[in-house]
Amino acid sequence: MSKPLISLENVTKIYEGSEQMFEYGYFTGNVIKKLKSFQKFDFMNNAALLDVIALKELTLEFFPGEFTAIAGPSGSGKSTLLNIIGALDFPSKGKLFFEGRELSSLSANELADFRLLSLGFIFQSFNLIPVLTALENVEYVLTLQGLPRKKRREKSLQALELVGLKHEAHRVPSQLSGGQQQRVAIARAIVHDPKVVLADEPTANLDSKTSESLLNLMQDLNKNSGMTFIFSSHDALILSRAKRVIQIRDGMLV
Ligand SMILES: Nc1ncnc2c1ncn2[C@@H]1O[C@H](COP(=O)(O)OP(=O)(O)OP(=O)(O)O)[C@@H](O)[C@H]1O
Ligand SMILES: [Mg+2]
Repeated sequence: MSKPLISLENVTKIYEGSEQMFEYGYFTGNVIKKLKSFQKFDFMNNAALLDVIALKELTLEFFPGEFTAIAGPSGSGKSTLLNIIGALDFPSKGKLFFEGRELSSLSANELADFRLLSLGFIFQSFNLIPVLTALENVEYVLTLQGLPRKKRREKSLQALELVGLKHEAHRVPSQLSGGQQQRVAIARAIVHDPKVVLADEPTANLDSKTSESLLNLMQDLNKNSGMTFIFSSHDALILSRAKRVIQIRDGMLV
């Protein structure tokens, strides 16, 4: 068996306070009692702060070539897990290894390089830069990597061809449908041959027919070039097509 690409060891993620702030001035009785039971009750600032434990001592491994879905209800920790795997966020406790290297041992610059070279991201809301054309959106990653212009163009057009959008290369996102925009986002995520593509609910904003064709596309990329995909979803269609499904609930494996 090959070595794991990504390993999580007892990863816990706690979001501390500020996001969940309650003004208690208007509350009385039981509500005040409940607020007082939170870990941080800040009388001076008239607010209660709630810590959220989003992942609890999660131990998991991912291997090269996986096509894996992370499933679970809203709030179960799917995005948190993907953000941690993608080094966009960090565990509060526990360790994350990528090809045996612990990510917390990297400097900020090394981490930025790691994300740029080894990872591709696909988001629910596409996250394309609105003023850039499809081609420029895809090319941007390669510009950051310092590739010469000619090579950038060539690779970006190849990636757009792979997702079936070469002819729309000079359109800006607002001239493309949702499904086409997500195809551009897929091209952007794979143009630099990353070791893993992370996708957080990639089809949540798309109709089922478009979702299915995107899924076919990701599946082909996985089959033909062995690209590793880890994606989150609650969509039954997507889950049924994954080679492996990891179910989480309340930040724990089910
Ligand atoms: N930045 C944050 N600050 C505070 N709490 C957060 C933050 N992000 C997520 N949470 C909390 O952490 C828990 C897990 O959230 P997460 O977004 O990972 O869930 P999810 O499974 O992706 O949900 P969804 O299906 O709705 O996208 C939830 O209780 C959420 O409210
Ligand atoms: Mg989410």
